[in-house]
Amino acid sequence: MIEKVVEKMESQKGFLQIPTKSRQELFGDVSLPLMTSVNGNRARLDEYWRIWSPFLKNKFNAGAHVKISRTESGLLVELTENKNAETETKSTEEKQILTQNIDDKLYFKTDSIRILNDDFLETNVIEENSIDLVVTSPPYNVDVQYEKYRDDIPYDEYLVFTRKWLTKCYNVVKNDGRMCLNIPLDKNKGGQQSVCADVTAIAKEVGWKYHSTIIWNEQNISRRTAWGSWLSASAPFVIAPVEVIVILYKKTWEKQRKGKSDIKRDEFIEWTNGVWNFSGESRNKIGHPSPFPIELPRRCIKLFSFVGDTVLDPFLGSGTTMIACLENKRAGIGVEINRNYCELAVRRLEKHGIFQKKLMEIP
Ligand SMILES: C[S@@+](CC[C@H](N)C(=O)[O-])C[C@H]1O[C@@H](n2cnc3c(N)ncnc32)[C@H](O)[C@@H]1O
Repeated sequence: MIEKVVEKMESQKGFLQIPTKSRQELFGDVSLPLMTSVNGNRARLDEYWRIWSPFLKNKFNAGAHVKISRTESGLLVELTENKNAETETKSTEEKQILTQNIDDKLYFKTDSIRILNDDFLETNVIEENSIDLVVTSPPYNVDVQYEKYRDDIPYDEYLVFTRKWLTKCYNVVKNDGRMCLNIPLDKNKGGQQSVCADVTAIAKEVGWKYHSTIIWNEQNISRRTAWGSWLSASAPFVIAPVEVIVILYKKTWEKQRKGKSDIKRDEFIEWTNGVWNFSGESRNKIGHPSPFPIELPRRCIKLFSFVGDTVLDPFLGSGTTMIACLENKRAGIGVEINRNYCELAVRRLEKHGIFQKKLMEIP
């Protein structure tokens, strides 16, 4: 059994740093990271000897004295001194505020990055008129196996879903807010559909204004599934091996305030040419069925937002947009319905040094 004092950062983020001198006693010789449990709740011991669990988030206040002991299945963390240290001792009023703001949907939080484990259509914690830029790739409805989401619904239903989330995005962006929407140009699986044209039309119906479309020439994919009628005009199949990024905005294209841009001359010249050539991302490498490469949100973020702006990805997946935010000093909010993908996003952020980098101050 060991004792320690909980620090503010630990309480806020939901981890406990195991002191060096106690590691051997608690865990013996283990290789990290390691899945375990805290008070019966799922937990993970990372490479830096921090034990992470949603259970620990705001469970003990900064300054609380806790003891940590081994159990058969994992760890037990208990309060040793009660100086109003456990958040349960907060007044009823304070407790209510906590539930509204930091409920258990908030899966991960640092000063600049927040990840919500929620259905974007249901979530109500993102303030209206608060987002500068949306960068996202929604489910394509091409039968990708997502665990929590059916990706093979009838096309009509898919368009109803599309209308709902486009409306929700519209409400949360600022008047000079923008959206970069990565979708297929078209689809041939389960019947030919003009996805880009249909989604763009719905976006305009819900109020978005159209700016332009970038063609993403994903060089390492082949979307060909069949030739149709081979060497015959009878019924040949044509399919373009590209995706698109539709650029939309809410009310005014020109930004309403001055801000700092970090795009370089060569990047500006290359990226304002609306054909982007870079490879797609490997599913196996990332561990998600349809990640986009970091190059995609990186370009969108640098071209279309200022340093310090707030970027939303309502379909976060493996967290690529949040990594691009971290690396380019933007604040990020990601929403993902699948808890396993939230966890994957956090692991990727950790690998990109989220706790080593000095957290920026959001203007
Ligand atoms: C195309 S993937 C996004 C991949 C992401 N760009 C990346 O780089 O990993 C779409 C994601 O949306 C999630 N999703 C589907 N429906 C959702 C909903 N209603 N709310 C939030 N996330 C949802 C899926 O679980 C999936 O991870």
